[in-house]
Amino acid sequence: MNINEGRFAGKVAIVTGSGSGIGAAVTRRLIAEGASVVGADLNPGDGSEYYVPVVTNVTVEADLEAAVATAVSSFGGLDLAFNIAGAAKGAPIVDHSESDWDFTVDLVLKGIFLSTKHEARAMKSGGAIVNVSSLNAHVPMFGGSAYASAKAGVEMFSKNAALELGRSGIRVNAILPGLVSTPLTSAFSENEALAADFNSKIVLGRPADPDELAGPILYLASEDAGYITGTSLVVDGGWEITGYPDLSKY
Ligand SMILES: NC(=O)c1ccc[n+]([C@@H]2O[C@H](COP(=O)([O-])OP(=O)(O)OC[C@H]3O[C@@H](n4cnc5c(N)ncnc54)[C@H](O)[C@@H]3O)[C@@H](O)[C@H]2O)c1
Repeated sequence: MNINEGRFAGKVAIVTGSGSGIGAAVTRRLIAEGASVVGADLNPGDGSEYYVPVVTNVTVEADLEAAVATAVSSFGGLDLAFNIAGAAKGAPIVDHSESDWDFTVDLVLKGIFLSTKHEARAMKSGGAIVNVSSLNAHVPMFGGSAYASAKAGVEMFSKNAALELGRSGIRVNAILPGLVSTPLTSAFSENEALAADFNSKIVLGRPADPDELAGPILYLASEDAGYITGTSLVVDGGWEITGYPDLSKY
């Protein structure tokens, strides 16, 4: 058990997608603020005193059950869950293969359902769950129909989960990031013209650093957000108010 002082001192958390990007930033910050963390990822990285990695595919129910059971056996329970694992295979609708559609919707939407199901079952004294959706829940992306539809599903799923779990003292909220500099979006930043197009649409003029998502994500799990459930927080540098660049030319 992590004995550091902090907002999350003594709390036990699970983070799916802990091995990279936003999930790795959330994991670092949780441990720095006193939590003990189980990291559930295809590639969860190395363990440490307060971090237990569990190789997990979030589309496989038995994997989620095992990851949650590890939180209980290693640290004595589960208080907080951050469902962040994600990726996508996209294409224009007329060219989209059924297998790429299934890959994306299963990972993005079913993964959140399976994670929430087993996390909530283990939260015996209440808790907080934060599901990472996307700005694409509100704004479509050329070639991103599977991803955007599934992320919109994550936002509604989170409201539904909040409705069902509130009387058990479990709060559920969604975060909708705009563009964040992680391996997932490196293809965008490496294409100079595309990066400039994106930055021209983002009111703050740049993508976010993953740590700029960790702050709002941890806020929703903190006691300061104790009366917030069933809502969504857009963290996009003001991008939603301008819309997407025309991606059809890329
Ligand atoms: N980066 C962005 O601009 C952005 C914007 C909006 C939403 N998001 C969402 O944020 C989340 C994190 O993205 P990121 O940018 O940090 O990406 P990332 O690629 O850096 O990290 C994603 C992590 O998820 C893991 N993962 C992928 N498939 C998995 C599976 N089936 N089971 C378990 N783990 C799996 C990967 O191994 C990786 O460690 C995703 O849900 C993504 O859709 C990202």
